[in-house]
Amino acid sequence: MIAAAEREYDAPAREASAATVPLLAVEDLVKVYPAARATLFGRRRSLTAVAGVSFELAAGETLAVVGESGCGKSTVGNLVLNLITPTAGRVRFDGEDLSAVDDARWRDRRRDMQLVFQDSRSALDPRLTVGAQVREGLDIHGIGMPAERRAEAEAMLEAVGLGGFADRYPHALSGGQQQRAVIARALVVGPRLVVCDEPVAALDVSIPAQVVNQQTDLQARLGLSYLFISHDLSLVRHVADRVAVMYLGAFVEVGTRRQIFDDPRHPYTRALIGAVPVARARRSRHGRPVRLTGEVPSPLTPPAGCSVHPRCPFATERCRVERPAALRQPDGRIVACHHPETVP
Ligand SMILES: Nc1ncnc2c1ncn2[C@@H]1O[C@H](COP(=O)(O)OP(=O)(O)OP(=O)(O)O)[C@@H](O)[C@H]1O
Ligand code: SF4
Ligand SMILES: [Mg+2]
Repeated sequence: MIAAAEREYDAPAREASAATVPLLAVEDLVKVYPAARATLFGRRRSLTAVAGVSFELAAGETLAVVGESGCGKSTVGNLVLNLITPTAGRVRFDGEDLSAVDDARWRDRRRDMQLVFQDSRSALDPRLTVGAQVREGLDIHGIGMPAERRAEAEAMLEAVGLGGFADRYPHALSGGQQQRAVIARALVVGPRLVVCDEPVAALDVSIPAQVVNQQTDLQARLGLSYLFISHDLSLVRHVADRVAVMYLGAFVEVGTRRQIFDDPRHPYTRALIGAVPVARARRSRHGRPVRLTGEVPSPLTPPAGCSVHPRCPFATERCRVERPAALRQPDGRIVACHHPETVP
């Protein structure tokens, strides 16, 4: 594989730096969208989509970001890929501050960091064959000799289970096949990080497992890191090494897959995980799931103090006024709650 082979010469340097520097380090990211227009009462309200998110991702690791619709997952993905500008905070890729890189450097970084879109149908160009679209990334980045690119694109299509499909147009592929073509197009340039935003959201229930299994096989072969944004907790349970649980723009709990699914601590995580059938089956071992009352507040009018407090059965006066800091617990996970020990 050209893309992987070309990079092998600098692998020792990468391994040495991986021991000390995480592949991705996100520090206190904030994204505030200014108000589009004045409300009925003349007040303009800005919207804080991401309210101070920090995390690290190691080489070869998959971190899943889960949470209800509108909590800020895609915004985090877009900030990580520098597709939108943060209001505050920093993203470092391999130790390099992405806000400081110039255009020439971005060419390399674009190759290192790929996005797999939510909607594969709109991500593919209907006028080009899938082979041409997979090859396009190699052309843009000048990877390999022109004559080699066709073979390279076909090899990547084969790796995602689309051998022989290079000359087909997107409309002649099923939804799952389109999704795999999008994955092939992202992986062919040899990225080190792939942000998957609801990668299998639009597909039939039987297809996600196939697509994800193919991705995880490729991940093992290529040594990729994934930021995996998904609503689908059973899929996350299958692919994630660690899980970040997001609520109203903030990570409320970050832990290993086992910690989050088998022994969740934050009341919101308990509520979210308790809603999954497989977790319900285990709850006799791990305590009752927490039931939150009411609806998720609007991000235009977020509550003071802990953002979960209007719905949390364990809320105290302190929760109503003081935003809990995200603190590392003795078992290594991070929890943003004033009373994580009191949750039964
Ligand atoms: N360009 C924008 N301008 C203003 N507000 C925005 C913009 N993009 C997103 N938002 C708001 O930011 C918040 C977070 O949006 P985001 O797309 O990150 O949520 P999400 O967790 O990915 O949701 P979903 O699961 O539905 O995809 C939402 O309240 C959304 O309305
Ligand atoms: S800080 Fe308070 S309101 Fe927030 S989740 Fe913890 S107990 Fe509930
Ligand atoms: Mg989204």
